[in-house]
Amino acid sequence: MEILIWIYVCVVAVVLQSFQAQSQVTYASVPKSFTHDKVIVCYLTRWAAYREGDGKFDIFDTEPSLCTHLIYAFVGLDENSNKIRSIDPWQDLEVNYGLGGLKHAVELKKKNPYMKVSVGIGGWNEGSIKYSNMVADPKRRKIFVTSVVNFLEVHKLDGLDIFWDCPTQRGGKPDDRKNLLLLVKELNEAFEPNRKLLTATLRTGYMDSKMNDLYDLVQLNFYLDYMHIMAYDYHGAWEGFVGANAPLRGMDDNDILNIEYTVKYLLSFGITTNKLVLGLPMFGRTFTFNTRVVNEVEFLKTPTTTTGFAGRFSKENGFIGYNEICLQLMNKTSEWEQFWHNQTVTPYLRDDTRFISYDNTRSFANKVKYVIDSGFGGVFVYSIATDDFRGSCDEEVDTYIDFIERFNKIANVPILKTALENFNTYEIQTEYYSISNGKPRLKLPSPQFGNYPLLRTVNEAITLSLEEIKVNNEIERILDERAKLVEKGSVPCFRTCNEICFYGF
Ligand SMILES: *[C@@H]1O[C@H](CO)[C@@H](O)[C@H](O)[C@H]1NC(C)=O
Ligand SMILES: *[C@@H]1O[C@H](CO)[C@@H](O)[C@H](O)[C@H]1NC(C)=O
Repeated sequence: MEILIWIYVCVVAVVLQSFQAQSQVTYASVPKSFTHDKVIVCYLTRWAAYREGDGKFDIFDTEPSLCTHLIYAFVGLDENSNKIRSIDPWQDLEVNYGLGGLKHAVELKKKNPYMKVSVGIGGWNEGSIKYSNMVADPKRRKIFVTSVVNFLEVHKLDGLDIFWDCPTQRGGKPDDRKNLLLLVKELNEAFEPNRKLLTATLRTGYMDSKMNDLYDLVQLNFYLDYMHIMAYDYHGAWEGFVGANAPLRGMDDNDILNIEYTVKYLLSFGITTNKLVLGLPMFGRTFTFNTRVVNEVEFLKTPTTTTGFAGRFSKENGFIGYNEICLQLMNKTSEWEQFWHNQTVTPYLRDDTRFISYDNTRSFANKVKYVIDSGFGGVFVYSIATDDFRGSCDEEVDTYIDFIERFNKIANVPILKTALENFNTYEIQTEYYSISNGKPRLKLPSPQFGNYPLLRTVNEAITLSLEEIKVNNEIERILDERAKLVEKGSVPCFRTCNEICFYGF
């Protein structure tokens, strides 16, 4: 009988509260400095300097205050000397009136002294075979390692990122897996005296090979400072059907091409969570339908041709930068229709004949929350040259819609107010949660406008997600405390029941 009364009280309370719940959101300004220890790794792809018009990315277009790490990409391997070398000396170096890109990248630290600048070696265009040959021979590895130490010294760089795309594939050998590990061990040893940063950017799999077939995950985890996971390129026109470039969730339990599965897979090898850095794509994948009339798009089903189309500036079939996408959306006469795909937590665009799967500020905010909730080291973005770095586009207004929805569910629960009051008492600073006029408020960052909407979202969403965890932890702590008091019979059941039930206890 007593139980029934409890249930009745709770149901009434929940129903009343859901009627009261309504948006209580105001806006605050962008955070000024890093108040957290998460990494935000910004890939700077140098070839974007050759794009035309508004796509042209100059090194001085970088915004160092939004990055904890910068990776200058890419340099390459000289297969004759086995040494690291510039692929584009005119862009990278100063000799022969070169533009001195490496020097200018390092000088960006004047604007953000906390930022580390590494150089990335490899990339798709470097292929795999040269690296396969180098790592297979101890003498060649030694020459390479010495050349890297020297290169970092000469250019005053903080570290090396290995972006071999990818071991055992594209002409590589099965032994690449163990030979890469030997190289990483030797680099790690050589870097120790100066504590240089050693990271690698890893594919989540390749064709039919699983990630652990390409890389010795357990051992790499030990010797690398961070493992950058390319959590994108899961689907593209090459498959001949529509899919998401970077789906957070799969379409069903058997779907393994998604971020959640990749992470579960990585954790099954015991990877250190705070060494995991999840890659967020600042680009989309393009598709062309192969039938005339497509009414409803179905992910992993709707057929396409095996070639997509190219972006205006990047001119690479199948690829389109976020900056190119957002400019198209600004064009009021364009035919694009915009959709949100709940299952993969990504947006997509379509017109009569074409389809784009991409990431926007809303999907970035949700991925960042996933990274923070999972206790990972942070994120990398690929690359800042295809964010809207000029600030040419309209702001996106629904960036934090999912955060607002969660907040509104508890906005009127008295315990939230108590938790936020405790924060003030203990002087725990929060940026986004507050009480004003006696009511809990979520003071969100202003809608995304100005330059770097995606990278700004990363910065804000990290702080916001960390604060969401703090608030939830405080609520749980209070509930625990009260539950103990109820056991002792020193608190009237009615009030506590109301709050506890709302939380599903
Ligand atoms: C805007 O879209 C229309 C229709 O697709 C196209 O003809 C036009 O060239 C576009 N304008 C710009 C500036 O891209
Ligand atoms: C979105 O997907 C999640 C996970 O599958 C599900 O729990 C939720 O109900 C979905 N929301 C909508 C509006 O379909």
